[in-house]
Amino acid sequence: MKIFLDTANLDEIREAASLGVVDGVTTNPSLLARETGDPEAILVEICKTVNGPISGEVVATDAEGMIGEGRHLASLHENVVVKIPCIEEGLKATRVLAGEGKRVNMTLIFSPTQALLAAKAGARYVSPFVGRLDDVATQGMELVADIIQIFDHYDFDCEVLAASLRHPLHVVEAARMGADIVTMPMSVFQKLLKHPLTDIGLKRFLDDWEKVKAQMAARA
Ligand code: G3P
Repeated sequence: MKIFLDTANLDEIREAASLGVVDGVTTNPSLLARETGDPEAILVEICKTVNGPISGEVVATDAEGMIGEGRHLASLHENVVVKIPCIEEGLKATRVLAGEGKRVNMTLIFSPTQALLAAKAGARYVSPFVGRLDDVATQGMELVADIIQIFDHYDFDCEVLAASLRHPLHVVEAARMGADIVTMPMSVFQKLLKHPLTDIGLKRFLDDWEKVKAQMAARA
């Protein structure tokens, strides 16, 4: 399973990337709006920091505009994946951009039928938004499971990218289901590693070793 960071913050991306387990990054207009600086320059810097798929999203809502923005985004760096919302115009744009060999991440997926249409249009990734479904009292993870089950029957060249993950249990559930990719904010990523028993255990090992060293020094 690939792990992506869902942020446009370069400090966070550099810190997480230094651990060697980050495979890509997803951004969106809201995430880029939180940062200072030119969004395109930030996107390129992210591409240079993480050598994997880096999603940059179009803001046009008509197919022609999406295609133009998608071509431009893809020209910025070879790692850029064009993120397109799952609407009618988005499907049209996806078909054209995929035909040109550009990778599309179809975003704002909230139903299995949307994912099916996205894959048929040639999207390389589909992004079901788990947390936002949970927010409206609907089991977001069930959508991920449905999409995985559907895709298992066919030969779509399309990966399931579980997005809008809000806590480590979302990551665990996505992994148990066999999601291809999970993307998460830095706050969730950090929680994947942390365990108090690891810290307590390490402290005990080191304290005991200090005792050994003190005994050896006393014998010398
Ligand atoms: O990758 C999608 C993500 O940015 C949305 O997350 O937490 O705003 O629902 P959230």
